[in-house]
Amino acid sequence: MRELSLHILDIVQNSIKAEADLIIIDIEADFTADRLSVTVTDDGMGMSKELLEKVTDPFTTTRKTRNVGMGLPLFKMAAEASGGEFDISSKEGMGTVVKASFGISSIDRVPLGELEETMGILLMGSPDRDFIMNYQIRTQSGLKEFNFDTREIKEELDDIPIDEYEIISSIKTYIKENIKETNGGLVL
Ligand SMILES: Nc1ncnc2c1ncn2[C@@H]1O[C@H](COP(=O)(O)OP(=O)(O)OP(=O)(O)O)[C@@H](O)[C@H]1O
Ligand SMILES: [Mg+2]
Repeated sequence: MRELSLHILDIVQNSIKAEADLIIIDIEADFTADRLSVTVTDDGMGMSKELLEKVTDPFTTTRKTRNVGMGLPLFKMAAEASGGEFDISSKEGMGTVVKASFGISSIDRVPLGELEETMGILLMGSPDRDFIMNYQIRTQSGLKEFNFDTREIKEELDDIPIDEYEIISSIKTYIKENIKETNGGLVL
């Protein structure tokens, strides 16, 4: 995949399929350590030990339509190609944590891409779920962060549905501008 934001979309869609109510996306870029890490934490149904062991193998899937699941193996490959690492932990009935790290400066690292588009697609498809995105940038001059939480937005919206076109559109602009400001000219 050409963008990490598309991998994130795929990984979060797994959480949605696993009936998670709250999905937390942590994106941390540490320029002092040349490390970008992406963590998706959900409170969904989790996986059995047997499935967890096989899950980064492209021939494992519980889908009936096709017997090759590629979301997790592709994310793992993208991380490892950039000199990073991949880790998944899960507990049945509790939830799942998928973590991948990337070498920021590696020529084999895919760009982060448009996170606001990923969030827009998720909100449109699953307005009933809640999403938190924590976005952090660490440089020599310190830490900058942007936090987004649909629970807070829904409270402010009162009776207006979050998946209304105008709302999604302004949320996307809001995320895009805040990420740009947090980046402060740095490119991810
Ligand atoms: N967050 C999660 N919670 C519970 N089970 C999960 C989670 N993520 C993945 N799984 C399980 O691992 C399997 C493999 O996931 P993966 O994303 O690699 O492939 P897939 O979703 O089956 O297919 P694809 O992503 O290619 O459409 C899934 O079918 C599902 O059974
Ligand atoms: Mg998947």
